[in-house]
Amino acid sequence: MGAGIAQVAAMHHHSVVLVDRDERSVERGIAAIERNLGRLVEKGRLSEEQRGTVLTHIRPEIAIKDFDVDVAIEAATEDFELKAEIFHRLDQSTPPQAILASNTSSISITTLAAHTKRPTRVIGMHFMNPVPVMQLVEIIRGLATSQETYDFTENLARDLGKTPVEVRDFPGFVSNRVLMPMINEAIYALYEGVGSAEAIDTVMKLGMNHPMGPLQLADFIGLDTCLSIMNVLHDGFGDSKYRPCPLLRQYVAAGWFGRKSGRGFYRYE
Ligand code: CAA
Repeated sequence: MGAGIAQVAAMHHHSVVLVDRDERSVERGIAAIERNLGRLVEKGRLSEEQRGTVLTHIRPEIAIKDFDVDVAIEAATEDFELKAEIFHRLDQSTPPQAILASNTSSISITTLAAHTKRPTRVIGMHFMNPVPVMQLVEIIRGLATSQETYDFTENLARDLGKTPVEVRDFPGFVSNRVLMPMINEAIYALYEGVGSAEAIDTVMKLGMNHPMGPLQLADFIGLDTCLSIMNVLHDGFGDSKYRPCPLLRQYVAAGWFGRKSGRGFYRYE
């Protein structure tokens, strides 16, 4: 998702530093952006020259160093320890007035903010996948987030052509509190043999007009991410209705993470 966020920011004339953990990962991100921009050129929505300009707005890096930025948007794997470590490093490496935003899909912004010395300037900025296509940015206030930080982030989301929606800092916020139990229930339906993966997805696509069935969407999001979010809901609310389906646990244990690993509820070339 980081590549998608970087692409959208660069297309809206921001200078972007795209940081990933190693050379290979950052190259993969840049390649995805090049591919997406190429598609826009083919469709006649972007000229070759504009494509080149957008790419010059993105500087790849493989380490968090002293960055002179107004805002940093963290979009790492949905793992609390990793995100807390990144926030700690961003706190040391960006100007004190910079806003630190997380693209987390469920982790507490208040807790992440507590790992910095600037909790008033920490906020959630939750984009949806694929970032260049989806309209929504969920904006999450931590307990200490200032109004100034909120206003800046809301304006930034609008400036990126998105529609911001304000939500409070509860596990899963709104998007995943509603979406993930549906996906988890679809996995239970598969586990209990109510229908095949294709049958379950077809019911939801043709019956409810969803663009993707829940199992196809789970593969698209990543089954490891779905399991992390279900665990956050389960731990955060202590309610058994959020129990992750054992089949989801098994798939993740097997390394079947969905589209990115070549296998999930479906197989991918
Ligand atoms: N990157 C950029 N653009 C993409 C893209 C990608 N990965 N995939 C598709 N697109 C673009 C296409 O170029 C096309 O653009 P135009 O209409 O402008 O030509 C448009 O999206 C539609 O694509 P397609 O016609 O190829 O396919 P589609 O109609 O099936 O749409 C989809 C694809 C937009 C992904 C659609 O299936 C969809 O909306 N799926 C649901 C997505 C969703 O629910 N996302 C939220 C996931 S949850 C999340 O992200 C947050 C979380 O915390 C877990």
